[in-house]
Amino acid sequence: MTTVQQPATRSADDIRGDFPILSRLVHGKPLVYLDSTASSQKPVAVIEAMSQYYETTHANVHRGVYEISEEATAKMERARVKVARFINARQSKQVIFTRNTTESINLVAYSWGYANIKAGDLIVLTGMEHHSNLVPWQMLAQRAGARLEFVPVTDDGLLQLDVYEQLLQQQPRLVAFTHMSNVLGTVNPAQEMIAQAHAAGALVLLDAAQSVPHMPVDVQALDVDFLCFSAHKMLGPTGIGVLYGKRDLLEAMPPFMGGGDMIRTVGLRESTWNDLPWKFEAGTPAIAEAIGLGAAVDYLNAIGMENARQHEQNITAYAMEQVQQVPGLIIYGPGAARRGGVISFTLGDIHPHDLASILDQEVGVAIRAGHHCAQPLMERFGLAATARASFYVYTITDDVDMLVKGLHKALEIFKL
Ligand SMILES: Cc1ncc(COP(=O)(O)O)c(C=O)c1O
Repeated sequence: MTTVQQPATRSADDIRGDFPILSRLVHGKPLVYLDSTASSQKPVAVIEAMSQYYETTHANVHRGVYEISEEATAKMERARVKVARFINARQSKQVIFTRNTTESINLVAYSWGYANIKAGDLIVLTGMEHHSNLVPWQMLAQRAGARLEFVPVTDDGLLQLDVYEQLLQQQPRLVAFTHMSNVLGTVNPAQEMIAQAHAAGALVLLDAAQSVPHMPVDVQALDVDFLCFSAHKMLGPTGIGVLYGKRDLLEAMPPFMGGGDMIRTVGLRESTWNDLPWKFEAGTPAIAEAIGLGAAVDYLNAIGMENARQHEQNITAYAMEQVQQVPGLIIYGPGAARRGGVISFTLGDIHPHDLASILDQEVGVAIRAGHHCAQPLMERFGLAATARASFYVYTITDDVDMLVKGLHKALEIFKL
């Protein structure tokens, strides 16, 4: 049996104490939260940073000449610096605040895409993309008359890299793929894939919604052109996400949305644009959310991203070992060594929605059920839906044990 080692700095048991929601009850039972892939919970440090901002500092940013507005601006821009350091961006102006991963990808598809993708151009995606890294490229391709090709997924849930190499020979303009699958948990070999794409003359957008929260990500080491992620999946608030881009690319891109803050001068008939990053941040930004994201980055840094990754690998290995013993249970995707902290599975012919309801009501376990915004991937495996359990820095083996107890309960209820 796998022994679960806790992060070297603090144990997951200890970390849990920082998350008020983890001590609440659901249906009279302690909440067991196994849906962090959809959205993570928030530590007191993040909640307090945001409420302290509202209690003491709130004013609009970038325009006030009075004290609290200057303080608000400084706090927000400090958060940008924290995020830049977290992903090892060369400069904080390469960090654009958006609403979420989805908006970050759309920003690139509209701004870079409409300026650079022409009829007949090729964009390479994969068969394991979240809808947010698929639909914006479909929209762009339809409008520009461009082509989309897909790297297929093997039965083990890995990318078919020989096909990727063949597609690169067709000289795509852009390759966009997920660093880690939100369904299969597969961690893709991003560094090698990016180097190969560059050698073929393509730019790369990496959907890091599931990697930045769970493992060290270094944009300079990856040499990635665009990187997108969401605060709410990394202990931060909803309503704020990040687009990182290489500076020369961002400088050359036209604005995505027009309005206040993104301009330098405005005339009745034309305007000029602000510097990076504000050129892409039209209107009043999510100030408290940026500050909350900064606090989340501080919190994750204190744990250490290597420790976070190690803990999740250990808990995932433990969970795979345990759930596999439930009769009739099938896990999709690769072994624990090649995946992050997420397990998609089916149990006999119990519908995943029924399974999720039973787990919620009988043992207080919150898991996800459905297509996980990856319908083409579901189709690839001949499925309409799966159940999905996912883990984070606050997940403990007791959580997994309660999941297993709930799965046995479901078998009993369905008389399987
Ligand atoms: C791999 C991946 N990409 C993109 C997204 C979209 O993130 P958001 O809804 O925060 O924009 C998700 C969300 O689950 C995801 O898992």
